[in-house]
Amino acid sequence: MKFFVDTADIKQIEDLIPTGFVDGITTNPSLIAKQGSDMKEIIKTICSLVNGPVSAEVTATDHKTMLKEGEYLASIAKNVAVKVPLTTEGLKTCKKLREGGIIVNVTLCFSAAQALLAAKAGASFISPFVGRLDDIGEKGMDLIEDIVIIYENYGFDTEVLVASVRTTQHVIDAALIGAHVSTVPPKIIYELYKHQLTDKGLKAFLDDWAKTGQSILPK
Ligand code: E4P
Repeated sequence: MKFFVDTADIKQIEDLIPTGFVDGITTNPSLIAKQGSDMKEIIKTICSLVNGPVSAEVTATDHKTMLKEGEYLASIAKNVAVKVPLTTEGLKTCKKLREGGIIVNVTLCFSAAQALLAAKAGASFISPFVGRLDDIGEKGMDLIEDIVIIYENYGFDTEVLVASVRTTQHVIDAALIGAHVSTVPPKIIYELYKHQLTDKGLKAFLDDWAKTGQSILPK
């Protein structure tokens, strides 16, 4: 499973690159707004740091303007994935951008029917939001299972990008289901490393080692 990082914070991205986890980045208008700086500059910088797809979202709601915005965003760098919302206008835009060879991430997906339509429109990625479904009492991961089955049934190339990830369990479930990508907030990535037995075991090893008075490197 590929790991994308769900952030527009350049410092967070720079810190995570050495982990080898960063296969791509997803941003959205809310994440960009948090940074308080120019979107084009943020996207340009992220694209120079990361080799994989960097999602940048259009903000128009009509096809014509979305298309212009999408083409503009795609001109910033080769690895920009234009994010369009799962609306009729968004999917028209997806189809057109894909015909022009532009990477497209269809976002705000909340049903298997929507995911099917996005694949038919040639989406490179579909982003179902599991956390927001959990928030309203549904099981976000059930949707991931359904989409993976549907895409496999028909051999769609669209990659399932699990979004709105809120817990480490979401990441594990996505991997068990066989989703292609999870986009994970930095905080959850760091939580993935942790286990109380790792901390406890390490402490015991180091305490015993200290008693020997040895050091591995020559003094
Ligand atoms: C992904 O592309 C979205 O930007 C993101 O995962 C949304 O997450 P949220 O529901 O926590 O805002």
